[in-house]
Amino acid sequence: MNQEDWKAKLSLTRDGFLSALAKTGAAGLADFETRYLGRKGELTLLLRDLKDFSLEERKAMGALGNSLKAELAAALDAKKSETGAGAAAFDAVRQDLTLPGYPFPKGSLHPLTVTANKMCEGFQKLGFSIADGPHIEEDYFNFEALNFAPDHPARDMQDTFYLDLKDAGGKDLLLRTHTSPVQIRTMKSRQPPLRTITAGRTFRSEAVDAGHSFNFHQLEGFCLDRNITMADLKWTLDAFIKDMFGSSARTAFTPSFYPFVEPGAQVSVSCVFCSGSGAKCPVCKGTGWFEMLGAGVIHPNVVRNGGYDPEKWSGFAFGAGIERFAMLLYGISDMRMLYENDLRVLKQL
Ligand code: PHE
Repeated sequence: MNQEDWKAKLSLTRDGFLSALAKTGAAGLADFETRYLGRKGELTLLLRDLKDFSLEERKAMGALGNSLKAELAAALDAKKSETGAGAAAFDAVRQDLTLPGYPFPKGSLHPLTVTANKMCEGFQKLGFSIADGPHIEEDYFNFEALNFAPDHPARDMQDTFYLDLKDAGGKDLLLRTHTSPVQIRTMKSRQPPLRTITAGRTFRSEAVDAGHSFNFHQLEGFCLDRNITMADLKWTLDAFIKDMFGSSARTAFTPSFYPFVEPGAQVSVSCVFCSGSGAKCPVCKGTGWFEMLGAGVIHPNVVRNGGYDPEKWSGFAFGAGIERFAMLLYGISDMRMLYENDLRVLKQL
């Protein structure tokens, strides 16, 4: 085949293509495309014949062939969109909307936050409102106003982290060792009758093990009103514990010492795993009880430091480790699991 023949064939292909295209409907366009432009299509084969020509010839003829190819492809596209064949092709590959979607992992609240919220809600139902205080505290609020004398040994049980900064009185600022300073702050900023709770971080210079951490969380509550007694405290905590663990849960008050309450008590809750029977229970170690809170009637010195006359005003206070409640609610035996943020653990809770 010489150059002239090839060009004649090219022009014949063009005419054939255009007149056949005019007669082809939407349904036939895919076959039509294969016939002319497919791997063994008429135009494709013609372009392949170029290999028999010299390089010089090939350049000019190739340009001719490629521009025809572009022209025909454009004509085909125009016909496709005119007949709606494009939409039909799209329909064929359209996503199957009945397939399940891609997983979209949602975050959720941390078990400690869930526990703190649940505890706060329990007290809100009993008429308590929320109060708050800073993590960085003054010696006065954390210890002194709570009746811890400067050299009282009770301070040693709550050794903490001191900052390289001083308060107005020249004492080192510290990370609060408990949430009890919020009692004083609330008494000073609000007027009784008071019923408030606060939940938040606390810090102690403590070695980490299954039941201790240098950074943990407490829920603190207190009430200041007229004629408040130990009986009010007992009823309030018992109602709260039943709300948390069910109506069969029981509370026990054992005498204990905290400088800011008098009398003071340690509050235990009957084991939710063995219903308090203790029989061979590995969780409560056969005792039937868990120590869950510190509590007591607010010491007259503390009422005075809060700005009120202890002859007229009295109250009760309690503090609970939120980790302990979370461990009981979720059945966790090692509190470190609550801090490691291992998704394999968190997804189970
Ligand atoms: N603040 C005490 C502690 O952290 C707990 C407590 C609070 C005890 C209120 C009595 C009253 O150990």
